[in-house]
Amino acid sequence: MNSDIAIHKPAPIAVGKPLDKFNRTSGLKETLNILESGMPVLVSGFYSDGLLLLREIHHYLKNQIPHQSFKEQREYRSAYRKLSNLVLLEIKDQKLCIRKSPVIGWLERFYADNDDFLLTFPQVQGLNSAWQWYQNGISVPVLRNKLHTYYGVYFPTRFEHLLLFDNWLKRYSGPKKSAIDVGVGSGVLSMQMIKHGFQKVYGTDTNPNAIFGLTEFMGKTKLSRKLELDFAHLFGKWKMEVELIVFNPPWLPESHELDRIGEAIYYNECLFPDFFAEAYLRLLSDGKLLIIFSNLAQITNVTKSHPIEKELAENERFQLERCYTKKVKVASAKTNRDQHWRADEEVELWVLVKK
Ligand SMILES: C[S@@+](CC[C@H](N)C(=O)[O-])C[C@H]1O[C@@H](n2cnc3c(N)ncnc32)[C@H](O)[C@@H]1O
Repeated sequence: MNSDIAIHKPAPIAVGKPLDKFNRTSGLKETLNILESGMPVLVSGFYSDGLLLLREIHHYLKNQIPHQSFKEQREYRSAYRKLSNLVLLEIKDQKLCIRKSPVIGWLERFYADNDDFLLTFPQVQGLNSAWQWYQNGISVPVLRNKLHTYYGVYFPTRFEHLLLFDNWLKRYSGPKKSAIDVGVGSGVLSMQMIKHGFQKVYGTDTNPNAIFGLTEFMGKTKLSRKLELDFAHLFGKWKMEVELIVFNPPWLPESHELDRIGEAIYYNECLFPDFFAEAYLRLLSDGKLLIIFSNLAQITNVTKSHPIEKELAENERFQLERCYTKKVKVASAKTNRDQHWRADEEVELWVLVKK
């Protein structure tokens, strides 16, 4: 099935006419001027020279743009993206052309047919960290195995919602024949359900990398017989009625530039109404509909409306059985200072049943 799936990866930039170069002996001011004028710069010398330039871009922008509120931080990130994406690296024979560069396995996997091209430094950083996560795996407190998440796939970095779900699964005593996991991502929720005895889970995702990566991760293991995947919107080809439907949807209303990872974070206005309408058709009469959510959008004043409360208030499909909440631990002192709103963040596990 996966032969039809086109992996999402950074588009290679063709090598064209010679570019201005940057290494640690170059003038920073001149380089920032070039970037500000919208022209690219090619990092030469060492990989760390590129890191140095990105740090300088941060310094430069921090002096110009406030970055306290959630909205300001978004604007700051957008200005940073604009300049940093003009910092380029050359890749020859699937290797970075500068000294002391990390080895990034994705380069061979994704660009086998391309012997000479450019990528932006942030793209290379993204590929590099994704490769580290993929190779080393991510331990989550609710699973014995590590997750080896593919490039470009959302994976959990905080675990409160997984713990809420795990506690709910521990207490759930209903039938465990089948479940649907909408937006499986790394597959973590599906694996939790299987760990708690669900015989079959049907997952979907609109991100091709999630489906491809999870299929590769499962290989021919026992898991691959219990978890079936469809690269599709919402419920895809899964039309059967099940006892449990879970969805850990994007938590914020859509912003402008959406990439694949963006789709894991931002939702458009049709997502929830369509999801509830389709979930209603697939949930058995005594089944449970579980949605993982967060108060992030409310506490950051991005929106006042809550898509689950809206569904309950406006439609006759579902009623609330219970909503469990858990405070999110603040990650570090630094996060605390720059992102003070995080202190009030709570994850929510909504358990709905049919009316
Ligand atoms: C917040 S992530 C959650 C991933 C995973 N279930 C977890 O709990 O870690 C949301 C996932 O939903 C996927 N997604 C977003 N919109 C979707 C849609 N309309 N249909 C199916 N999947 C979608 C995203 O690609 C992403 O993998």
